[in-house]
Amino acid sequence: MGKEILKMEHITKIYPNGVMANRDVSFSVREGEIHALMGENGAGKSTLMKILFGDEDATEGDIIFEGNKIQPKSAADTIRLGIGMVHQHFMLVDSLRVYENVILGMEPKNGIMIDKEKAIRAVEETAKKYNLKIDPMAVVGELSVSQKQKVEILKVLLRGAKLLILDEPTAVLTPQETDELFEQLLLLKKNDHTIIFISHKIREVMQICDSPPCRTDCGIDPGRQRDRRRYLPLHGGPRCHPENE
Ligand SMILES: Nc1ncnc2c1ncn2[C@@H]1O[C@H](COP(=O)(O)OP(=O)(O)OP(=O)(O)O)[C@@H](O)[C@H]1O
Ligand SMILES: [Mg+2]
Repeated sequence: MGKEILKMEHITKIYPNGVMANRDVSFSVREGEIHALMGENGAGKSTLMKILFGDEDATEGDIIFEGNKIQPKSAADTIRLGIGMVHQHFMLVDSLRVYENVILGMEPKNGIMIDKEKAIRAVEETAKKYNLKIDPMAVVGELSVSQKQKVEILKVLLRGAKLLILDEPTAVLTPQETDELFEQLLLLKKNDHTIIFISHKIREVMQICDSPPCRTDCGIDPGRQRDRRRYLPLHGGPRCHPENE
């Protein structure tokens, strides 16, 4: 396994309405691994990744990426660093074609934005490389959920992401589509990408991930956290809350 690519240290997030979504979460990922982030509904998984992705500010804590402390303020900052996120709720424009969605908002320096033919070719080549069977000319609104997810993955790849965050990607997939996604994730890994895989399905995590999952607990009421303390050792995985160890 490669060197540590990402560390999130002692992250606490309190939303303006007083909800504490993350409490002292520490989490690290090695280059080239598929690393799971687990937790029940409302446990703070998406919040933690939104902080990494610059969509939300942490109330406390540090992010270290490739050895440097980073303070992402927007998705554009994070994309520039090579971090891409496939959100739980897709962010595609249904009326546009696949290739148009892929280049939408892309920085001009990335060249392919201005040249339609080049953009279509880039989508085709990347789709082929990662076995993401998708037609660049298809209208996104006519695609299945699983195909839309492929478009989202293509989008982050074509923006140069080396670390990909997938927020509950299997929640919208059939078992067969999930197997297909896992093959694609292994291909990404083989091509030196690092993946943070968010899920609450332990079987999936055991199947695809390289190291024990990191768990977030916040947002879950204390009674449920007590229940989970009895339940967690069965699955053996470290938790993100030092105080709950
Ligand atoms: N913008 C926001 N403002 C206030 N509270 C929020 C906001 N976003 C999330 N929350 C709350 O923060 C907690 C953590 O939410 P988050 O979406 O990070 O959890 P999650 O682990 O991703 O859950 P799920 O499995 O349902 O996707 C929840 O209690 C949620 O209601
Ligand atoms: Mg979520």
